[in-house]
Amino acid sequence: MSEFRTRFAGIGACLPDRILTNDELSSMVDTSDSWIRERTGIRQRHLAAEGETTSDLAERAARRALDQAGLTPDDVDLIIVATTTPDFTFPSVASMIQGRLGITRGAAFDVQAVCTGFIYALTTADNFLARGQAKCALVIGAETMSRILDWTDRTTCVLFGDGAGAMVLTAEPPADEGIEDRGVLATYLRSDGRYKDLLHVDGGPSSTGTVGHLRMAGNQVFRHAVTNIAESMSTLATQAGVDIADINWFVPHQANQRILEGVARKLSIPTEKVISTVADHGNTSAASVPLAFDRAMQDGRIKSGDLVLMEALGGGFTWGAALLRV
Ligand code: ACO
Repeated sequence: MSEFRTRFAGIGACLPDRILTNDELSSMVDTSDSWIRERTGIRQRHLAAEGETTSDLAERAARRALDQAGLTPDDVDLIIVATTTPDFTFPSVASMIQGRLGITRGAAFDVQAVCTGFIYALTTADNFLARGQAKCALVIGAETMSRILDWTDRTTCVLFGDGAGAMVLTAEPPADEGIEDRGVLATYLRSDGRYKDLLHVDGGPSSTGTVGHLRMAGNQVFRHAVTNIAESMSTLATQAGVDIADINWFVPHQANQRILEGVARKLSIPTEKVISTVADHGNTSAASVPLAFDRAMQDGRIKSGDLVLMEALGGGFTWGAALLRV
């Protein structure tokens, strides 16, 4: 049994001011508002301004999450940032956030699992906290996907957006009154490296020496997404000894409204329990789960004591899920 329990302490989000609507996109590539809405559910996405970087968005989300938790940067001894779009090849965004928050202890690093990044980062932080290797973690998903899009490719550029979300997690001794069933209850990670060609970026430091652009065989990714996500949710629920019907809220990676609905149908989940922000945010990759979580806490849907299942699938393929009692 773990020595410590990972408790949820706070959440924060940041979306860039600039909004790009489907109608505006229709003047850039051969697409239409109705095509994008029907196939994806997306109405608009936020885009980082010129000079605004992933670490700028991540820092704002992190400060909001700490405020919500009633904690300060001095409390933090672990920072994990999930991102595919770091400011630089190195240092990590996490190290940059550590510097900006004035934190001089503990560890900071990035994880790369594309759209599943937040689930991977949360799982990693949970392991650090449960083993007593850190006391307070900032887990951040932050992306400027707009910087790796080919803005002439209508099959990909309509799907993605920019943003950041941050969660604060703390280690609590499980012996404390009433916290036995609170916090991170279970996590489940998977990957299968055979599918690179279906979803990848065609550049990088040691191959082309360029940043590259996102390439995707969308309809094939779609099929894998529904199957793998549903499998990870069922496996996680079984491992945790929880009935899917007893879960209060589902916070999925926001890739496509049809994927959200397909998974919900497969597992007989009422759509009212599925938090969806894809219409307003598009696919913000590693940022999408904490952004959706933040929205549902801000509008009062997710409350203290609720059981929440988060899930994602992304390039790699990577996929996974996490179960948290708030
Ligand atoms: N506007 C208008 N037409 C378009 C557009 C567009 N933006 N994009 C593609 N089309 C056309 C295609 O060219 C094709 O035309 P054709 O029939 O003349 O050849 C037609 O629309 C159908 O294309 P499909 O790719 O079959 O369309 P589909 O219904 O599969 O929808 C989509 C495409 C939205 C990309 C969907 O497959 C999808 O969402 N896939 C999952 C993607 C995903 O989840 N990615 C994220 C997971 S990992 C990550 O987040 C990085």
